[in-house]
Amino acid sequence: MNIIPVKTGRPYEIRIEKGLLAQTGALLRPQFRGQNLAVISDSRVAELYLKPLLDSLEAAGFGRPATFSVPQGEESKSLQMTSILYNFLAERHIRRSDCLIALGGGVVGDLTGFVASTFCRGMSFVQVPTTLLAQIDSSVGGKTAVNLPAGKNMVGTFWQPSLVVCDPDTLDTLPEDIFAAGVAEALKYGMIRDEKLFDLLALDGAREHIEEVISRCVTIKREIVQNDERDTGERMLLNFGHTLGHGVESGSHYALSHGFSVAIGMNMIVKASVARGLTAPSVLERLEKGCRRYGLPTFYDGDLERVLEICRSDKKSEAGSLKAILLHSLGDGYIQPFSFEEFESFVREGLE
Ligand code: NAD
Ligand code: GLY
Repeated sequence: MNIIPVKTGRPYEIRIEKGLLAQTGALLRPQFRGQNLAVISDSRVAELYLKPLLDSLEAAGFGRPATFSVPQGEESKSLQMTSILYNFLAERHIRRSDCLIALGGGVVGDLTGFVASTFCRGMSFVQVPTTLLAQIDSSVGGKTAVNLPAGKNMVGTFWQPSLVVCDPDTLDTLPEDIFAAGVAEALKYGMIRDEKLFDLLALDGAREHIEEVISRCVTIKREIVQNDERDTGERMLLNFGHTLGHGVESGSHYALSHGFSVAIGMNMIVKASVARGLTAPSVLERLEKGCRRYGLPTFYDGDLERVLEICRSDKKSEAGSLKAILLHSLGDGYIQPFSFEEFESFVREGLE
């Protein structure tokens, strides 16, 4: 088993191993002996993995947990669903000393984490991520959120889990496009920090090396989060491709998934950097090839002006400026502040 400790304000471990879902109960027992558990999942994941999880909890001596499945999809990351979950937990007499388990992708993880951080002024939660994106990104680092009509992730907290139980076998049931969306985030880690990881993905294949891919990604995220838990500096590196990606995702009215939009965002920003002579053209060629291998898009054929308008209202932008992530070379990302005007001409020129 690969055990990756995360030394944040509240330290925890990420455990990665094929078949680990069946050991969740045993892994939880030392930390949560005697506590009540509640499992939050979504309808699809519950169908596939709730029973094995409940069996493992029972085998470890836990009483039957309360369980709740939200509808699949981003719409469940809402204040309405948060309120439904608060009432569910209150009715089941769940208290601050108890523990929530998030079984699912990033939607379930972000929602459950947000509920855990606010219910009874904050309680423990454990992440059992079942998508590649959740295993390498959203289950680690403690960002929780729900969406508002005004924008994605507009209400949230920093609230670290008590444990992350990552079973790569659960990825076997993921549809290819959802797997590929996770690969986009894995390519991102390679682009900003780890050329070998990038080549592993682009040349050898993610599924063939899944445990290594997850471990390398999580190790990079762990290091960055430990240095900047509250996202005021180095953690912004994780936004490589994301400012434009969010613009594309929202500009497409969410027809393009987060991962697909990030793939487009990475290609757009690297194209712009190449046009300015800041990044070698070979970096762009390798990125395009890596994306194509997984059927990830490399360009946006929608309205660029709308995308740039959305970038201005990105929640991470400051008065009149934003920070973009550029590359000195493949595997070496850096933070570059731009005024909105500079950023827009940088991107437009790159796409001419
Ligand atoms: P998701 O949770 O919606 O899962 C995608 C789909 O896959 C869902 O329909 C789900 O039912 C299904 N699914 C999940 N696991 C499955 C499995 N093993 N087999 C078959 N189907 C399965 O989406 P996601 O891509 O995991 O996460 C996206 C969310 O993560 C977004 O809301 C995004 O904002 C958030 N996110 C958060 C962070 C963070 O740091 N907190 C980072 C990145 C993304
Ligand atoms: N997914 C970006 C972050 O956790 O900071």
